[in-house]
Amino acid sequence: KKSLFSGMQATGTLQLGNYLGALRNWVEFEDEYECFYCVVDMHSITVRQNPAELRKKARALLTLYIAAGLDPEKNCIYYQSHVPAHAELSWILNCFTYMGELSRMTQYKDKAAKHAENINAGLFTYPVLMAADILLFQSDIVPVGDDQKQHIELTRDIAQRFNNLYGEVFTIPEPYIKKTGARIMSLQEPTKKMSKSDENPNASIFLLDDTDTIIRKFKKAVTDSDNEIRHSKDKPGISNLIEIYTIASGKTIAETEKEFEGKGYGEFKMAVGEAVAAMLKPIQDRFEELSKDKAYIDQIIKNNGEKAQYFANKTLRKVQKKVGFPERI
Ligand code: TYM
Repeated sequence: KKSLFSGMQATGTLQLGNYLGALRNWVEFEDEYECFYCVVDMHSITVRQNPAELRKKARALLTLYIAAGLDPEKNCIYYQSHVPAHAELSWILNCFTYMGELSRMTQYKDKAAKHAENINAGLFTYPVLMAADILLFQSDIVPVGDDQKQHIELTRDIAQRFNNLYGEVFTIPEPYIKKTGARIMSLQEPTKKMSKSDENPNASIFLLDDTDTIIRKFKKAVTDSDNEIRHSKDKPGISNLIEIYTIASGKTIAETEKEFEGKGYGEFKMAVGEAVAAMLKPIQDRFEELSKDKAYIDQIIKNNGEKAQYFANKTLRKVQKKVGFPERI
């Protein structure tokens, strides 16, 4: 069976981009692939976190994976920090990654600019830990949004370099990026991607926002001044809303343009808000329900953590042997 790995940071409530660009697509792989979906709490501490908050958010994220439709019997849903092999492989891969490569990562450059007071070594080697995540599970594909493409290219380079030296150890992963939804833009600055850490609360729709909040934020969304609902490069705000609407409603871009021909932005924004709220409502209800069942979630954390550990250790032992670490007696 082929395998697949993906993960998300537990640094805040998921926003609509996380859902449309990644999580929504994850549910379709469970029969064809051995799937590993991780809560990457080790990546989260590259920026300062409140410990109690981080613990809470990590658990909420894991619960949200299930609420969004991932069956924990068919998908291995677990915490990165519960599987030490991530850190162990990451160290080894650090020794096969160049400073120059890491300096070119755009996410690093953005984060370093934003957190100038705390440019720590973990922030710099963040992509190496990500490579370890992916390569530990011999992943064939990695379903992500557009912003993770550069990291996956680096992962491929590291894997190729290692294989050239030691033989076929790692599967070379392919990014899996859907055309629609791969880059959802901010509602307030539609030339910038939607992000959990945006200071303006109106810029992002959060997965647990209630219907009124969702509609209010869409009503306030920044658009251009002509009043035509048309998907076009020079209309980033409206194009973003059209894209969101097509996914939430299941209609095509052409159908959407036709549906709102001659209608105003106000009416369209209302329709987008309602469609998104309707799409998220069942996930929110299920999240509520699951959050109450502590024993059920605990048991998933335990069982899946052990399963991930088993798979990860197989790759790790192979790698340790290749680089020349002494055998275990
Ligand atoms: P993170 O937590 O920032 O985002 C999680 C997923 O959501 C996607 N995404 C978006 N998609 C569309 N539009 C947006 N505006 C948008 N914002 C975020 C991301 O592309 C991602 O798929 N480094 C990763 C986490 C990670 C990982 C991994 C992912 C750690 N190890 C191994 C894949 C494989 C991150 O910070 O994602």
